[in-house]
Amino acid sequence: MIERDKIEEIKRQTDIVALIGQYVPLKKMGRNYRGLCPFHSEKNPSFYVSPEKAIYYCFGCKKGGNAINFLMEYEKLDFPDAIKRLAKNLGIEIDTTRGLRYKEIYEVNEEACQFYTECLSKDIGRRGQDYLTRRKLSLDKLGDFRLGYAPASGGLVAYMRQKGFSVERLQKAGLISTSREIFRDRLMFPIFNLSGRVIGFGGRGIDDYIQPKYLNSPETPIFKKGDGLYGLYQSKERARVKGEVILVEGYFDLLSIYQHGFDSICAPLGTSLTERQAMLLARFVKKVLILFDGDLSGIKAALRAIGLLIDAQVDVHVVLLPDNSDPDSYINAHGATALRALLGKATDFFHFYKSVVKVESLEQEIALIKDLIQIIARIQDPIRYDRYLKYVSRVFGIEIATIEKEMGKTSPAPEKIPRDPKVSQEEKLMAMILIGYEHFSLVKKYLHPNDFAEEGIKRLFKRLIKEQNFDIADLSDVVDEHLREKLLSIIMRGEPVSRESILEAIRTYKGRVEKARLMQKINEAAKRGDEEARQLLNRELDALKRELLNIHVESARKTENVRSE
Ligand code: CTP
Ligand code: MN
Repeated sequence: MIERDKIEEIKRQTDIVALIGQYVPLKKMGRNYRGLCPFHSEKNPSFYVSPEKAIYYCFGCKKGGNAINFLMEYEKLDFPDAIKRLAKNLGIEIDTTRGLRYKEIYEVNEEACQFYTECLSKDIGRRGQDYLTRRKLSLDKLGDFRLGYAPASGGLVAYMRQKGFSVERLQKAGLISTSREIFRDRLMFPIFNLSGRVIGFGGRGIDDYIQPKYLNSPETPIFKKGDGLYGLYQSKERARVKGEVILVEGYFDLLSIYQHGFDSICAPLGTSLTERQAMLLARFVKKVLILFDGDLSGIKAALRAIGLLIDAQVDVHVVLLPDNSDPDSYINAHGATALRALLGKATDFFHFYKSVVKVESLEQEIALIKDLIQIIARIQDPIRYDRYLKYVSRVFGIEIATIEKEMGKTSPAPEKIPRDPKVSQEEKLMAMILIGYEHFSLVKKYLHPNDFAEEGIKRLFKRLIKEQNFDIADLSDVVDEHLREKLLSIIMRGEPVSRESILEAIRTYKGRVEKARLMQKINEAAKRGDEEARQLLNRELDALKRELLNIHVESARKTENVRSE
């Protein structure tokens, strides 16, 4: 592990508002800062950053955490790399070669990747090599992609065992299922995160009888299909410089045109583009060139992607390939120059829409216009918005006022920050404890894990007792995602917590909850006629009352101390 003290030091020194402010324009709103959430598309800001609590939280999509969580989420870094980034900003030296949260899965993936690439280079990979030749891929131009071959006869388990990896670890990484290797006789595409670590694999069956044609690793804690993009790791620097990226549908499309010198390309991972992937792209580029198959499914996928990309505020251009070809077959048939020329003729989404949507009746035209208006309504850049608005008005001969009226009618109502529907007393108290964490030594005196009935809260409280320097945003290994989001939302809304206010809250909590609990038990005992139990419980009730008084005294004493100073 990276030394804890250093991590604490880095977290303490990091100014979360300045950090997030580099990526998201933030405006001061009372104690907090507010901006448009970078993790989901929205028109009204519900993303908050609290400098005092050193956390961020979006009331819309419920993403939140500390500075490290932000970098991990935003830059898609893993934990050590996020720390490294923060350390670098502060000019602190740190060694992050170890300390990965899901280290065991990363290690298995890395080793497996080496196994597959080795296989491809040896006799056992003959079928893989022949397949590459047949499909005109040349390994020497694609070194960054670390392609491999999974032999039909397997061999991963034995290889990994020899390296000291257990079957369980292979299972965790999604490489075997019930001890059978899932990738066999497949060309292997390792999938990288933005730190360049292997997070999963895609595999193309070498023969057409191998089904399914493409197989991806199952989802693991580090591999989520809708989150990442194939090729983005290799392309990201060029993409940043160029400000644009080509989006293709498949692995082969990508590799095939990459080796011809197109160097800013990515592809979804076997699913259609997701909102998260669109938002991810928007961090690197201003413009996306969609290069999909010219068939019906390609058109549909392009129409879908356009909406998501516009929502992510990138400029979208589309090229459809002729004759139902895909980028891979096109470049092999016509060459790179032809493809480049085609890309040069990419149309903006407006013209693309107009050219592919069939209009044979007035009603169909109305539907098309409405679709287009809906997309334009989502453009936030005022100048681009204005251009498109006027354009649509001119092309279809519709008054601008009419268009804007249509937009107003259908655009979603401004989001309000929702009140949390169900927050229990325990959750409220826990949030206060976390906000006022510096008073924990006092809190510990008057609260016991058993004062909490909810499992998650109890577990968290135990952890707080055990651990020093708990980070209030670092809840994820103690509580489930739902409770984490809930607590963060209460924390973000919460007032600062003083000694007195936390003691008062504990007193109220114990008074209300504990008293009610005891009273119920007393009533039950009385009903049963269990005199002994009733007396015992009554004594407990007295003890509780005394304790409540103590808390009150403690709180008053501190207040006096402060006053007399
Ligand atoms: N895909 C998948 N599972 C399938 C088919 C496709 O996950 N059974 C995904 C793969 O990521 C693939 C992409 O969808 O790269 C595009 O699929 P398709 O157009 O069918 O394949 P091609 O990329 O043309 O692959 P090939 O040229 O090898 O047939
Ligand atoms: Mn193809």
